[in-house]
Amino acid sequence: MSAYKFIDHKFDVVVVGAGGSGLRAALGAAQAGLKTACITKVFPTRSHTVAAQGGISASLGNMGQDDWRWHMFDTVKGSDWLGDQDAIEYLTRNAPAAVYELEHWGVPFSRTAEGKIYQRAFGGMTKNYGEGPIQRTCAAADRTGHAMLHTMYGQSLAHDTEFFIEYFALDLIMDDGVCRGVTAWKLDDGTLHRFQAQMVILATGGYGRAYFSATSAHTCTGDGNAMALRAGLPLQDMEFVQFHPTGIYGAGCLITEGARGEGGYLTNSEGERFMERYAPSVKDLAPRDMVSRAMTIEIREGRGVGPNKDHIFLHLDHLDPKILAERLPGISETAKVFAGVDVTKAPIPVLPTVHYNMGGIPTNYHGEVVTKSGDNPDQVIPGLMAVGEAACVSVHGANRLGSNSLIDLVVFGRAAALRCAEIIKPGAKQPELKDVQTDGHLARFDRFRNASGSTRTAELRLEMQKAMQEDAAVFRTGESLVSGVDRLQAVWDKKADLQVSDRGLVWNTDLMETLEFDNLIGQAVVTVNGAVNRTESRGAHAREDFADRNDTEWMKHTLAWLDMESGKVKIDYRPVHSYTMSDDIAYIPPKQRVY
Ligand code: FUM
Repeated sequence: MSAYKFIDHKFDVVVVGAGGSGLRAALGAAQAGLKTACITKVFPTRSHTVAAQGGISASLGNMGQDDWRWHMFDTVKGSDWLGDQDAIEYLTRNAPAAVYELEHWGVPFSRTAEGKIYQRAFGGMTKNYGEGPIQRTCAAADRTGHAMLHTMYGQSLAHDTEFFIEYFALDLIMDDGVCRGVTAWKLDDGTLHRFQAQMVILATGGYGRAYFSATSAHTCTGDGNAMALRAGLPLQDMEFVQFHPTGIYGAGCLITEGARGEGGYLTNSEGERFMERYAPSVKDLAPRDMVSRAMTIEIREGRGVGPNKDHIFLHLDHLDPKILAERLPGISETAKVFAGVDVTKAPIPVLPTVHYNMGGIPTNYHGEVVTKSGDNPDQVIPGLMAVGEAACVSVHGANRLGSNSLIDLVVFGRAAALRCAEIIKPGAKQPELKDVQTDGHLARFDRFRNASGSTRTAELRLEMQKAMQEDAAVFRTGESLVSGVDRLQAVWDKKADLQVSDRGLVWNTDLMETLEFDNLIGQAVVTVNGAVNRTESRGAHAREDFADRNDTEWMKHTLAWLDMESGKVKIDYRPVHSYTMSDDIAYIPPKQRVY
């Protein structure tokens, strides 16, 4: 590939992505004295974490008694027992310290009258092992992610993290099963770069944009997940896709679960607070998978609101306007702009909308990427870590609880940095890179750059998004999922006919969107294949033809590999970790998940 020349860089640690987990990992690695780079396709403070609204969970107990063990219980139950309990223990035990660290760095949390961090209720968070809602979600009004991201970017700059901004990561540099670095395309001048590192940390977020309607930013194309697939690594539990109950009808913008935490409630066309029927103890504060299913059933049974009876109302109009202005200013504005609603006077039209991917790159709780190799289900891939939504640790299992994402970002971003400090020697000699390790990266890049078929990327992307939206929805059946597999295979095959009209290298958004589409389609294919294969219902994976959870056969993680030529998926499994990290906390055995 002599037409392209790489500019070379050498670091101890290279973090790909500058959202909450990427920044936390990068600043931790830099603090540990490791030469650290953070490469990101958008300016750090525009990463998708900026859109996180309602808050970050930790058992601070500022609004009544709390205990990290209760948080652990809720997270295990929320995950429908697909979460790894050693990792869930790590998350919930370390959560309070992680929040205080953010506070000390300057995150402007909302405050109680006594000046403590304000906490609100979120779905599935309970006191005393399931007794009823608890206020565990620490909030900076409804702009918590925004506050965290800006604070952590400032902290990263205060340490010696070197940022490479508007660099689009292409592929992992693999050398006989070891990751040696990553290649990237600099969007504003068209140059190509090789970042060599002792450790690459993928913090590239989720792939919500595989769907037609998502709360995710358009940048959420799961680039790291796709790089892992191309490197011959599996993705885990991709069939578990979270629908947030309250996306604005039509626009898809997020209305935080914190709205229900502050006393908001859902009604159907009969004005009924229907969640009382589905989750009698926690009602509107049931976990997201349950609320989304309840809303879908109400609409299906003819009790949706609006002229087409195809959505649900979220009421905040009974709340004190002063409270709305203080605690929910962001969503009040969003509702006005995107739904034309004054939340103090009228309900917001909402619909379950794709929000989060529980699946991703399998890791242990140190952030190290693992795969199944022979009899070892936890084989570490040297030189590669993943954190945040890109990773599947797995703490969220089959369903993530609201506000457990922001805490996942900082707890595991920190864990990855600590692991780097433990296993990496600053400035250690790294082996010479060979062209053969990156020729495939350039071939793919060049193939798309010069794609001269007749199908526009946007057309094919829409075909993929519609198939995902219709066939891998809140409720699935074998029939819908087989249809999804076929439709996505057709999209995969049409990649050969793609047309990219801009041949340039500088700010070529046509090419960038094509590379992003190629990343998305691989993940979409893996998602529907995993979903058709899993013949049970668990968490967010609700099969109408297999309505029950089946622990005997399915309490295991799906691993899915993608053949890059054919688009065919190979599936295997890893056991769920049914043990804890420490002797002072017992494994929580599975039971029926009712609220
Ligand atoms: O509803 C929300 O504010 C979203 C939070 C989350 O996904 O954790």
